[in-house]
Amino acid sequence: MRKNSFAFCGGVFGDEGKGRVVDELVDHFSQTHKVVVYRDNGGANAGHTVELDNGQRIAFHQLPSGVFHKRTTIVLGKGMVIHPGDLIEEIAEVKEVIGKGMASIVVDKMAVLSLDTHRAFEAVLKEWESGGKGATGRGISPAYADILLRHPLRVRDLMPFNEEKIIKHYHLYKALVFGLGKKIQEVEVPQLGTTGKILVGIETHFLTRLRSQAQQLKSYVGDGYSYVQKTWKDKKYAFVFEKAQAIGLDTRWGVYPDVTASDTTFDGIFSATEAVIDPEEITIKAAVIKATYMSSVGTRKLPSVMDENLAHQIREDGHEYGATTKRPRGIFYLDMPALTFFLRVGHVNRIAVTHMDMVYPDVLIKVCVAYTQKGRTVPYRPDQEYLNTVKPKYQEFAPWDKDKLRKSKTFSELPKEVKVFLRFLEKTTGTKVYMITTGPKRHQSLYLEKL
Ligand code: IMP
Repeated sequence: MRKNSFAFCGGVFGDEGKGRVVDELVDHFSQTHKVVVYRDNGGANAGHTVELDNGQRIAFHQLPSGVFHKRTTIVLGKGMVIHPGDLIEEIAEVKEVIGKGMASIVVDKMAVLSLDTHRAFEAVLKEWESGGKGATGRGISPAYADILLRHPLRVRDLMPFNEEKIIKHYHLYKALVFGLGKKIQEVEVPQLGTTGKILVGIETHFLTRLRSQAQQLKSYVGDGYSYVQKTWKDKKYAFVFEKAQAIGLDTRWGVYPDVTASDTTFDGIFSATEAVIDPEEITIKAAVIKATYMSSVGTRKLPSVMDENLAHQIREDGHEYGATTKRPRGIFYLDMPALTFFLRVGHVNRIAVTHMDMVYPDVLIKVCVAYTQKGRTVPYRPDQEYLNTVKPKYQEFAPWDKDKLRKSKTFSELPKEVKVFLRFLEKTTGTKVYMITTGPKRHQSLYLEKL
């Protein structure tokens, strides 16, 4: 086991609060160590909002948490798909807020590019009602598909600017989009920044834009492989891995077909670092879940759909609207058959439970403890058509006193209802609870193990 190594992934369907948990750990370790925050999957589809002490809110998409800390290096790894324009915007926004106190950023030159061409193709596919109807429109699956088709553009193709290869890429996507009935130059695609969207444009416009972005990104691009090779062995560094999305969105394990295209499990770290970092060596590998409910943004239909009155209340109280797409999130009761499956396939060894304060006096906490089909108990399986045929079976738990929860400094001080609930989670999943969060602010948390 590698000392001071922590990894967090989304335990169910995303937006469980990984960013907040990572931010807190980076804050803690940056007092005593150099910290590496490594992100290995996804791209601009992710989103979490950080509220600063002055009340200002910044949405992160490609940058993981920890960017506000000196003595910290953020690595955007090989397994990610990078949109240069959006990344430059995001970095500029952070710089404007914190200036020089910002972490260093290394964008791995081997990371794959996800460009406006991919976004255009995805937008047109959506009109054809393709399987990815719920996608965020950030061109994620076309960029990952490029890898399987063996023609990806990588960050290194921008430096030096490989014009021939990039023109070839543009023409391929132009043909694909044309085949689906649209002219690529006229397709509008989402973009971070003031306009919110732009046209892909003709070849020269596309090239000019990308060339300028390559220039701006240049100082951040580095060799992610050598960087982790050096630092992973050096005990001066603490490592925090922030996965994006969640295991329930993984292509192989999630609710297919409304899934994302990257490896959302800890295994992705192994491939992104080219086996330099074996996830087996990471001490804490925690799946983050929300205590009393799950949210899901997309088109998937989950068995444990929540009563709409309570769902509405939670959506408003918990700001359950997509940070990337602003779509209202679907709200569901916690689903133990799915969660237990995800923890197993994700090689998870701990649970981090967030949003513990989302409880209402006199409203029992319902948890889906089994699926049934024609009266028989059946397991979770990663297939929407199958999930449409199962019925949820529920168990209810008493709510706890929020104030008493927040005041508790140790496990033994926690309200007894919280203890019952956490023990239930541990027993059902066979996985220990690592920490809980008791409010939205940094340090509103309680660790059940020594840090
Ligand atoms: P894509 O990743 O844009 O291809 O979208 C595939 C599915 O994953 C869609 O249902 C998205 O809404 C969902 N998704 C992608 N990223 C996130 C995320 O960070 N949080 C929650 N859902 C996500």
